[in-house]
Amino acid sequence: MAGERIASRGDGTRYVGRDESLVPEIGMTKVNADIYTSPEQWERERETIFRTTWFVVERSDKIADPGQFLVWEEFGETVVIARQADWSLAAWHNVCQHRGARVVDPLRVTLENRTGQPHTPLAAVDAPAELGERDDTGPVFGACKTGEFVCPWHGFRYGLDGLVTAVPERIDFDAAELDGLRAPKVAVRDYAGWIWINLSGDDAQALEEYLGPVILEEFAHHQMENMICVDKREYLMPTNWKAVVDGFIEVYHVAETHRETIGDRLASRDTYQRLLDRHSMYFIPSVAGLDQFLDEGDHIRDSISHYLVFPNSIFNCQSTHIQAFQPVPIDAYTAKYNVFLLVQPGGDEDFMAEQDARWDHFQNVAKEDLYAATQLGATMRSMGYTRNLMNAREVRIPHFLDVVRSYTHPGEPGILQGTVDG
Ligand code: FES
Ligand SMILES: [Fe+2]
Repeated sequence: MAGERIASRGDGTRYVGRDESLVPEIGMTKVNADIYTSPEQWERERETIFRTTWFVVERSDKIADPGQFLVWEEFGETVVIARQADWSLAAWHNVCQHRGARVVDPLRVTLENRTGQPHTPLAAVDAPAELGERDDTGPVFGACKTGEFVCPWHGFRYGLDGLVTAVPERIDFDAAELDGLRAPKVAVRDYAGWIWINLSGDDAQALEEYLGPVILEEFAHHQMENMICVDKREYLMPTNWKAVVDGFIEVYHVAETHRETIGDRLASRDTYQRLLDRHSMYFIPSVAGLDQFLDEGDHIRDSISHYLVFPNSIFNCQSTHIQAFQPVPIDAYTAKYNVFLLVQPGGDEDFMAEQDARWDHFQNVAKEDLYAATQLGATMRSMGYTRNLMNAREVRIPHFLDVVRSYTHPGEPGILQGTVDG
């Protein structure tokens, strides 16, 4: 039995056919290992990529009602995203504009969730060591019952939108300084059922422009906004975040790494690949469905349609379910890796059981990738690790690294010579 909806290309752009070439003509490339191993490179990426680009944070239905919010903290940034009274989203840097304290403490939110009381006394914290600890497994979710957040240091109050609404002993400040004061904005959008943020706030490029027409069209076919997130897992990867991305944007590893799970099911050499201005995609047919894939050219229905939205939002889309992957850098040598499972709505019990079985199977696939990442992590500091060699079909990797370099080293020579679509 199937879910109610099977995603399909419909009248959309056809990429695949027996006469279409599969791989952009880039050829073999090499890249110096520094791009993965240098802490200085990671610092540049933090500043030039992660502070200026759009990435997904969570499913938007996790904060569906006014007053619901989440605190997102990664690579030294802390952000509050809150559902406003008019159901729009606002996001702001979780930094008090008085003297810089964190306004909304994830630990405190966790305590309030536990006791149901706003401003739960710190006496409820079990041990002093717990203070300052954070739940390191992703955003902390809460519901702001009073409509305002209170900075724990001197009591500045913030509205759901990050505007300072009250200041204790206000008379001691210059009124003009407090007028309109707000926590710095983070740009936020609710698109495709995901919360997307861009830390640069008002300087952010519009999300649609950033994604570009190809990704917008592809995502319209998949209708992720109507899908249901049934599970989320988080893993720790002992390697650079880009090496984790690399593992998703080539299928060369499938035969060896995944020999026990999916190795012989995918027609990996028939994967159709396309490089966009900063993103990339490929469509992987199954061995069983290869003829239909080539004859009918419905990549949405008949392949794994796979998208990297630069820098780190990855969507592995099949017609009835989608896995979204997000490698989140911790430092040059470690990354977190979030996995979300989305399924089409309206499926019956058999459909859900089928999805459960797939998801269980996927955990084994993920273990194989984690194992490979561990082998990479083991060589990160080795003097024997000096460069990567990418074959002619691993072209999404040099393209991705080229985009990375265009942010971290603008104006300097890139890695890639070849054709790239807008
Ligand atoms: S630092 Fe927030 S009120 Fe003083
Ligand atoms: Fe893999």
